[in-house]
Amino acid sequence: MKYKKDYDINLLEDVIKYDHENIVQTNSGRPVIVEIGCGNGHFLINKAVENVGNDYFGIDRKSDRLIRCREKEVKHGIKNVKWMHGDAFDVLKDMFDDFSISGIYMLFPDPWPKRKHHKKRLFKNDFADIIFKKLAAKGFFIFVTDFADYYVEVCGIISSDPRFEVTRPDNLDDFSISLFGERWQKENRTYHILVFGKKNDR
Ligand SMILES: C[S@@+](CC[C@H](N)C(=O)[O-])C[C@H]1O[C@@H](n2cnc3c(N)ncnc32)[C@H](O)[C@@H]1O
Repeated sequence: MKYKKDYDINLLEDVIKYDHENIVQTNSGRPVIVEIGCGNGHFLINKAVENVGNDYFGIDRKSDRLIRCREKEVKHGIKNVKWMHGDAFDVLKDMFDDFSISGIYMLFPDPWPKRKHHKKRLFKNDFADIIFKKLAAKGFFIFVTDFADYYVEVCGIISSDPRFEVTRPDNLDDFSISLFGERWQKENRTYHILVFGKKNDR
């Protein structure tokens, strides 16, 4: 991987690398919130600063972006956020205890807009299985995309899965804080939000 001149690759030392034998240690009793595809960390840093009682984990497969996340973390002196490098499917599956995650955000995931590439999208039925295993009983999942057909695909997966129910929270986060959210807002593009959790009896 080629890094830009101003990247300090030493910052990667504190990034947790994917390791199928390593379950991340979480602080018991503190809610664990995960962002899948955290990019440069704009959204998660903001959440971590505002909610010091939660522990945040940002996952991305691009290490240069995780350097940007670490820069922000160091600059703000934040103690309740960690970054994980790897494919989010594998990281979620192998590195978190079952039922340990209180909330998962997936904001503006790579949309793979061409039909022939749709199979590369991360959110599929097998991904829903991982989410079910990892979410705590009253946990939430928030999916945000500006691609209507990705939204429809994910709505179809969740609404036909009896383990989940779509919820309508009174208050939603400001997604324009994320880098892509900010871009779409500037361009006046609409985006779609799906919030769901496990059914009470699951
Ligand atoms: C379009 S960007 C959105 C970044 C951020 N969520 C935002 O709203 O600004 C998608 C991010 O997801 C990451 N990503 C895509 N597929 C991934 C995967 N399978 N595992 C981990 N990260 C992934 C990309 O590297 C990229 O940083």
